[in-house]
Amino acid sequence: MRVVLGVAGGIAAYKAVALLRLLREAGHDVRVVPTAAALRFVGAPTWAALSGEPVSTDVFDDVEHVAHVEIGRTADLVVVAPATADLLARAATGRADDLLTATLLVATCPVLMVPAMHTQMWQHPATVANVATLRDRGVQVLDPDDGRLTGTDSGPGRLPAPEAVVAAALRLVGQGDLSGRRVVVSAGGTQEPIDPVRFLGNRSTGRQGVALARAARERGADVVLVAANLAVPPPGGVQVRTVATALELRDAMVEAAAGADVVVMTAAVADFRPAHIAGTKIKKSTQVPTVELVENPDVLAELAAHRPSPDQLVVGFAAETGDQHASVLDHGRAKARRKRADLLVVNRVDGGRGFGTPDNEVTVLDAAGQVVATAEGSKDDVAHVVWDAVVARLSDRTR
Ligand code: CTP
Repeated sequence: MRVVLGVAGGIAAYKAVALLRLLREAGHDVRVVPTAAALRFVGAPTWAALSGEPVSTDVFDDVEHVAHVEIGRTADLVVVAPATADLLARAATGRADDLLTATLLVATCPVLMVPAMHTQMWQHPATVANVATLRDRGVQVLDPDDGRLTGTDSGPGRLPAPEAVVAAALRLVGQGDLSGRRVVVSAGGTQEPIDPVRFLGNRSTGRQGVALARAARERGADVVLVAANLAVPPPGGVQVRTVATALELRDAMVEAAAGADVVVMTAAVADFRPAHIAGTKIKKSTQVPTVELVENPDVLAELAAHRPSPDQLVVGFAAETGDQHASVLDHGRAKARRKRADLLVVNRVDGGRGFGTPDNEVTVLDAAGQVVATAEGSKDDVAHVVWDAVVARLSDRTR
């Protein structure tokens, strides 16, 4: 694919170097078109050496090749990273005062803008209006990440990680490795009511499931997120089905799984629920109550046993601690066999790991209990490792 990488004049221009490398390593031809201001942050020799192509900023350079028309016309994709407030303003108003803005006017291919600037500039009504104009015109404008900015302050305005930019770019041109795939992810923890104010619950926040849904979306999938009592917001661009109890979760999963290529059960489903739900609040004045429990369905085992198509891939999670009988992995292996999932992501939850933490440590087992991947890091990183394992299996099956 022929990519034009526009680089505007912001401090995040240095991160576009990593983006250029990723695009080149993925086998794409990249023509870098920096603005004059961008060259004050990263010089032309860096862009030329890493892209293997000439670098110019001005429409009066390379005039005999009519570069401002040629570059835009031959591109399959334009990515502008960082897109500064000034670049967004010039693009929104159709200015053509340098090679990058002229290229944007000529290009008919998909365009991805990746803004990075100080929070106040991003939230200024002028920038908000310019972004809205560009989006109305079909330009994809990513939201910047929230976090530490150039100075000591923080807020929305950071350039997203180069991997996330590449994923968004590939999705824009229908080349994500989950493009065209339908994926269902359950996340969170079920709550089983005892009376109108009390429930049996668990410590799951839904972070790992939300990270899986986000990563699948980034890789091009159509995603349904079955959300049980999430403590974190669901990602954009996915369909959310809200549930509270295990039985509601089972119904939502069975319905969503009907047309899915991949089903991932991240939710912590209560194994038991109260046999009777008191219609009114149980009072302290009465005898100490005994709550009788009945078993909930094993949703993962049911989904794996009754797949709508033999090609559907079913992935389970297993939160495990080692004990005197078996290690974390042995417990995981037994569970993989019992539940008949194609992949089981074994999640260590001893020593404070797992619940409510930003990081996770997992081992991915196949149905035979073989280790196919391990990952340690942020829940987003873990999510991508899980999808890598899924994609490797999907590619063996029919599309
Ligand atoms: N799971 C499920 N339905 C249940 C319990 C668990 O679908 N009633 C799913 C979870 O979503 C997860 C996997 O099964 O993908 C393993 O969950 P886990 O709680 O580790 O397994 P349990 O079957 O509850 O086994 P145990 O608590 O005995 O370790």
